[in-house]
Amino acid sequence: MSEQAKSDGFTDQGRKVAAHWSKIVISYDAALEALNAKGISAQAASANDLHAFDMMHMGGLSATDAVASAADVHEGLRVLDVGCGLGGPARRFADKFGANVWGLELSETLFETARKFTALVGLSEKVQFANGSALALPFDDAMFDVVVMQHVAMQISEKDRLFAELSRVIRPGGKLAMHEIFSGDGELLYPLAWASEPSMSALEPFAECTARLSDLGFEVGGFEDHSDDGRQHHETTAKNLREALSKASGGQDLTTWSSTDASVIAGRLKVADAMASNLRTGSLKVGLVVSTKLN
Ligand SMILES: C[S@@+](CC[C@H](N)C(=O)[O-])C[C@H]1O[C@@H](n2cnc3c(N)ncnc32)[C@H](O)[C@@H]1O
Repeated sequence: MSEQAKSDGFTDQGRKVAAHWSKIVISYDAALEALNAKGISAQAASANDLHAFDMMHMGGLSATDAVASAADVHEGLRVLDVGCGLGGPARRFADKFGANVWGLELSETLFETARKFTALVGLSEKVQFANGSALALPFDDAMFDVVVMQHVAMQISEKDRLFAELSRVIRPGGKLAMHEIFSGDGELLYPLAWASEPSMSALEPFAECTARLSDLGFEVGGFEDHSDDGRQHHETTAKNLREALSKASGGQDLTTWSSTDASVIAGRLKVADAMASNLRTGSLKVGLVVSTKLN
């Protein structure tokens, strides 16, 4: 791929977003260590074993399975996972559902890790990756039966360009399966899981997304509300982080405690609390929606 093609679609917002995810996700070596700690050697690791670390969305593996079932992902289909992160969902669509999968990821670090994870579990023949932007997809027109997007659009401001690109690569009769986050009503608390500050976020109400998809010639499916799963996900995370902090601090006052680990845990706790609150008040909504491209 030329340097021009590689940099196309990399906006200022995208650079911030990619840097954000590169900083917080698990590295390949750390994942191997974590597997080792569970008694799983690198040689014996399976795609299933990796799913403990590679699902970067609310609801984890069961949400990805729900997306695959809703979009009827099956053997022989060509599936594109846009903003594929560490490639967990992409591997699942191949390993459990039999699809031929492409993953597209903006962050070079995540893209490289996704490739290594996939080679580790022997799925490189079924799942391939590209490092690029959803705003300039490096794929031919009408190439895919299904395009999936899980927790990605909420950090891309150029929505018209994004959805025009998604539509371009879906064949007539093909599907767009979104497990996405939308704005609701009320005040939004930061930090969000994808945005430490507002310029990294680009939420929109589902009604606006529906109107755009209809204009692009999609029949938009019903909104399956997953907000409550999302709230539970972040509440459980917050509870676990509180326990970890209290164990690490030996019961001291956490506000005066300043080890690096503690500040990382405390930062994550702030995110989990804000996310749980936004999902409780309805200022954030999570939905699974499958739309069909009519022609
Ligand atoms: C919350 S993570 C979700 C990852 C994956 N979909 C999953 O559910 O495991 C969002 C991902 O979208 C990627 N992303 C954000 N903006 C993008 C863009 N313009 N093009 C491609 N990927 C993008 C981020 O780098 C990050 O890996």
